[in-house]
Amino acid sequence: MSRTILNFGAGPAMLPEEIMLQAQAEFMDWQGTGKSVMEIGHRTDDFKTIAEHAEQSLRDILNIPKDYHVLFLAGGATQQFSVIPMNLLQGKTSADYLHTGIWSAKAMLLATRYTDINIVCSSEQSNFTTITDVNDWQLDPDTAYVYYTDNETVDGLEFNTVPDVGNVPLVSDMTSSILSKPIDVSRYGIIFAAAQKNIGPAGMTILIINKSILGETIKFTPDLFDYRLQAQGKSMLNTPPIFNWYMVGLMFDWIKQHGGVAAMERSNLRKSTLLYDFIDASSFYINNIDSRYRSNMNVVFSLNEESLTEDFLTQAESNRLHALKGHRLAGGMRASLYNAMPESGVKQLVDFMREFERTQS
Ligand SMILES: Cc1ncc(COP(=O)(O)O)c(C=O)c1O
Repeated sequence: MSRTILNFGAGPAMLPEEIMLQAQAEFMDWQGTGKSVMEIGHRTDDFKTIAEHAEQSLRDILNIPKDYHVLFLAGGATQQFSVIPMNLLQGKTSADYLHTGIWSAKAMLLATRYTDINIVCSSEQSNFTTITDVNDWQLDPDTAYVYYTDNETVDGLEFNTVPDVGNVPLVSDMTSSILSKPIDVSRYGIIFAAAQKNIGPAGMTILIINKSILGETIKFTPDLFDYRLQAQGKSMLNTPPIFNWYMVGLMFDWIKQHGGVAAMERSNLRKSTLLYDFIDASSFYINNIDSRYRSNMNVVFSLNEESLTEDFLTQAESNRLHALKGHRLAGGMRASLYNAMPESGVKQLVDFMREFERTQS
């Protein structure tokens, strides 16, 4: 059965049809074992095969150096907003944050329970449409780490380079951009990403951690939140989300089969360029993000005539273009163009937008 809608939702997002079909085919009987993946004990050789395969695939795709741990943990990215300071403060009292949108704001807010925050730069004045020039950043030489959100999923703003922060551990929330492009992992202390956009079903977060930056956690840190213990326990201090781990492995294989992250980036750029070019050429649709920092994953836009928004969304749904409504805090529209969204899907969206505009004039 083919998909009946094109899902532009920001997450949980659409997954490639091939991996859904594979999961369906293997659902009741994984590789002739007579068991579903969900019924495999996490300490068995069968699950070890699944877990190790997923980790190796991710290491291959992102070229992750040997001196990095890869953790597959239960829970979402928000959990890491607290767990990061627990692990990285290591006696320091302040941490640097780049404030570029809703997700960096949430990360800061949760971190303030454990540490002082130094706001290196803030996009607030521009209403989160640009990123402050690096020459105006106020980095604290005594910070425990520097934290930023690579792609602001709600605001539609994405970094186009890796921030240069010297020898301080650089932490990046890549929840909505991981696997959409190549990254130089060696520049980072920690990369983390919840799965529900480019990786797989919600419920798991993947962390890529430079071994050398880990140390004592703060007092009362639960064992499950201690990255060193999780690494020693191969992310299995307790029962991991088995099915998610299996699904993310399928996703990594799919990316490999489709040319890896370099090919994903080329396709994602073609998709986002098609949509941005169309928006820019029209006076009916608006996107105010600084063109240098426009997100390749989440294209936000609004209508010049705001009162037509509901109509736009209703008609889009009737045309099988699903979940284009912007985040509840941002309003307007948002088209999420993660790896699984085919280029033909974006063409269909643009055709619909053109037709909607035509019928309004
Ligand atoms: C960039 C970013 N960070 C963090 C989160 C929060 O993830 P979770 O809901 O898994 O906690 C999201 C969710 O959409 C996100 O887009």
